[in-house]
Amino acid sequence: MKPPAIELRRLTRRLPSGGRDLTILDGIDLTIDAGEFVAVLGPSGSGKSTLLALMAGLDRPTEGEVLLDGEPIQALSEDALALIRRRKIGFVFQSFQLLGNLTARENILLPLELNGRKDAGARADRLLEMVELSDRGHHYPSQLSGGEQQRVALARAFGPEPSILLADEPTGNLDSNTGKLVLERLAELRREHGTTMVLVTHDEQVGALAGRQIRLRDGRLDRDAAREEVLT
Ligand SMILES: Nc1ncnc2c1ncn2[C@@H]1O[C@H](COP(=O)(O)OP(=O)(O)O)[C@@H](O)[C@H]1O
Ligand SMILES: [Mg+2]
Repeated sequence: MKPPAIELRRLTRRLPSGGRDLTILDGIDLTIDAGEFVAVLGPSGSGKSTLLALMAGLDRPTEGEVLLDGEPIQALSEDALALIRRRKIGFVFQSFQLLGNLTARENILLPLELNGRKDAGARADRLLEMVELSDRGHHYPSQLSGGEQQRVALARAFGPEPSILLADEPTGNLDSNTGKLVLERLAELRREHGTTMVLVTHDEQVGALAGRQIRLRDGRLDRDAAREEVLT
């Protein structure tokens, strides 16, 4: 049997704050199966972005474990973590985070070339097509609207065919219509690639798109809706 794509065991993150420790995440247990689409909901400051950063090995837990495909990652070196991120994990951020001195197509090409893909050029063109930006490949991010920039970011994230896609408020900077289009593209790309996806949002409507919703409140898991249904 396949191990879970992501497993968190008693995951805790504390930060020193004015002489004492601030607990940001408090003993989170969570299992996400390969191919699942999970939304992490919760108000601002509840620890959603911190949770995502820990899943990606961008931050290290104070206590507890993160396992990706059954492999604990917290003991790995920074280099080993960087390699896992490059090969296994795609990111989409609220603020797009495109490189401003590269065109849309070059932004999509970069991770493909870093991964040594021989089909990088053809794949970049195909991805531009999938996000309906074939005619905008030569434009720089500053020449694109927010929704267009985020579609470039989606193409970039899915380019190397990561097994896990982590999205942190990907529609947070977009108006609701544009956000809807971006989410449709995101869902489509996920289906097509069979990617495990964790989508962080404070928006219940956005969260409802996922197959399972989990809720964070003050660094703790509120409930695990789909799993409760399965158990009862
Ligand atoms: N580097 C940091 N230093 C101090 N406090 C932090 C830091 N990162 C996050 N926090 C605090 O941790 C809590 C959770 O933050 P975050 O994970 O960004 O929440 P969310 O993404 O749900 O808004 C917040 O209270 C935030 O202020
Ligand atoms: Mg956040």
